[in-house]
Amino acid sequence: KQINSLGKLLSDEKVELKREVSLVGGISLIVGTMIGSGIFVSPKGVMRNAGSLGAGFLIWLGCGVLATFGALSYAEVGTMIPKSGGEFPILLEAFGPIPAYLFAWTSTVVLKPSSLALLSLTFAKYALAPAYNIECSEPSELAVKFTAVAVILIVIFINCASVKLSTQFLTVFSFGKVLSLLIIIIGGIVMLAQEGHTQYFENAFDGEAPGVREVALGFYQGLWAFDGWNQLNYVIEELKNPYVNLPRAVVAAMALVTGLYMLTNVAYFTTMSMQELLASPAVAATFGDTVLGVMVWVIPVFVCWSVFGTCLGSCFTAGRISYVAAREGHFTKVLAMLHAKRMTPAPAVLLNGFIAILMVIPNDFDTLIDYFSFSMWIFHGSTCAALLYFRYKLPDHPRPVKVPIFIPIIVCIAAVCLVMAPIIDDPKIHYLFAFMFIMSGLAFYFPFVHYKARSKKLRTFNIFLQKLLFVTLPDEVEE
Ligand code: ARG
Repeated sequence: KQINSLGKLLSDEKVELKREVSLVGGISLIVGTMIGSGIFVSPKGVMRNAGSLGAGFLIWLGCGVLATFGALSYAEVGTMIPKSGGEFPILLEAFGPIPAYLFAWTSTVVLKPSSLALLSLTFAKYALAPAYNIECSEPSELAVKFTAVAVILIVIFINCASVKLSTQFLTVFSFGKVLSLLIIIIGGIVMLAQEGHTQYFENAFDGEAPGVREVALGFYQGLWAFDGWNQLNYVIEELKNPYVNLPRAVVAAMALVTGLYMLTNVAYFTTMSMQELLASPAVAATFGDTVLGVMVWVIPVFVCWSVFGTCLGSCFTAGRISYVAAREGHFTKVLAMLHAKRMTPAPAVLLNGFIAILMVIPNDFDTLIDYFSFSMWIFHGSTCAALLYFRYKLPDHPRPVKVPIFIPIIVCIAAVCLVMAPIIDDPKIHYLFAFMFIMSGLAFYFPFVHYKARSKKLRTFNIFLQKLLFVTLPDEVEE
């Protein structure tokens, strides 16, 4: 309490997350989160599961359409319940506190950290690639892990240091990303214009047709590249004129990203065959080797640039979920606190970074993506189910955005397929782990949220943390 008032004294402004997100800001938030590592690493995973180039392109397109449908559905529920925190307020309103809590829990312990881990690992691989390319060997495991941890630490530092700095960085990085994809695409167009670079597109559907499980796993990989389409729902309360700007930003950003991704894939295949793509440790770098000549070094720079930007953004929104969950009394208040001077959500950012570092240690990219997509789509599906439930339960509630009903239905069906198909086809133990992990949130929910257990030790620990980190509750969150 004391330090809380002290914190408030020290800061002459209101303690809150401040940001005014305009339409352009909203678009760059979505584009900036979506374009990250995926377009540089997922093509391999998509194509490996698809089996043929044609099927692979269909999966990419399917991911784009699914993500767009998801984003449109989120625009409807988001404008119906215009509260920050993404899925949390929607699940809370529709299905009560337990699903909402499980979402907040899962995103804090699994989703956010695993995405930060995935991103920093990609950064490390590409950052080290040029150094090792000379000797034609792959960077050592240890070097990759060390670099990844260093990236996480830098990102934590920037995010704790200043919100303004983070957002300025984000904007600069977003421009760079679009530019880097454009350069790859232009490279592809130049190749296509020269003769003899269309041979890899011939007989595109030759090869074994993928089974249900392969399609689902291919989607997992592709959807990783599209992940981030729901970002604007996390900051609705900070968006200017949300009823108009949310749907506009969603449509513009989705069209832009889907277009860029499809063209980038075309560009990759102007220079390499399916086999070459599958054998390449870093697809974009291999592309650069053939097309860019002396400029090959720009590709790793672009990738690192792009991935770093997404790391920053990903860490940046981590504070929002804890903030909203703590506001509802679901999380310990410490996680919702802001640094008294810098107004950054330092505790949430630190926790996110800490778990991410633990996840970097095993360095298993594909398993991390599986965990991520599996858990993520359980909640995407539930949120679209909430939309359908609202249509039935509150038919007359004002809906500033109303999407055709088939859109959320398709997203729900797709979510069920995505979550179930890999399990039914090949029940791997790690899906059970992921599921148990989500459910284990209940072990905290019942004592601390439902029965409101308060322990003295926990309080002392919270106060200790508060002093250590010099953080205080935002004005909006009651003690
Ligand atoms: N789509 C991004 C990529 O390709 C990953 C986004 C991570 N998700 C997030 N909410 N930050 O790397």
